[in-house]
Amino acid sequence: MIKGFIFDLDGVITDTAELHYKAWKNLADEMGWDFDYEINDKLRGISRMDSIKVILDHNQASLNEETLAELATKKNDIYVASLDEMTSEDYLPGAKELLTHLRTEGFNVALGSASKNAIKVLQQLNANMYFDVIGDGNSVSKSKPEPDIFLYGSEKMKLQPDECIVFEDAESGIDAAKAGGFYSVGIGPKERVGHADLRFDSMAEATLFEIKSHFKELFS
Ligand code: G6P
Ligand code: MG
Repeated sequence: MIKGFIFDLDGVITDTAELHYKAWKNLADEMGWDFDYEINDKLRGISRMDSIKVILDHNQASLNEETLAELATKKNDIYVASLDEMTSEDYLPGAKELLTHLRTEGFNVALGSASKNAIKVLQQLNANMYFDVIGDGNSVSKSKPEPDIFLYGSEKMKLQPDECIVFEDAESGIDAAKAGGFYSVGIGPKERVGHADLRFDSMAEATLFEIKSHFKELFS
């Protein structure tokens, strides 16, 4: 039976992908690196340091770890400053409604984000009250596609993975959910999250009614 839900943050609850894009693009332009939306999409769900390595590989460039860390910090400063503009109006359509519905029905809810800035994003959105557990980029060391962040959430909720549904917009996030034995809902195109148990183009379609209809036998 499903007793809990674990939500990714970026791309599921709010659209930070554009802000991440702008910050990486700013750094890439300064470094003379090629960077576009296609590469940005590959960075969904993966950690900051893994992201800069993907960008570097794409540009067939190499830098030592120390320089990489400095550049990643530079990108992060730009990204964090852009979060100041985020408000409680910036939920993706449908996200707040679903979170509210889950609260009214008494489900356990955890956040399972790779971001080290998740607390700030939740504050900007005024979303803390929707979560019993907050798992972010500081909670575990192995990032998606490893299942650790979702296992952290289920353990804290005292639930088994097969009692939880994970919501993800990233290919690596669905991989992580599957690796941990969770049910998964993918938000986005087939090419990215088509391997999820259930997929919606956007959060606006992901109502509790639709979820219960699909996973019928898992709800009492
Ligand atoms: C999320 C985003 C990724 C981002 C990662 C780390 O998973 O989808 O694009 O790289 O968080 O974010 P951070 O805020 O710690 O740099
Ligand atoms: Mg995401």
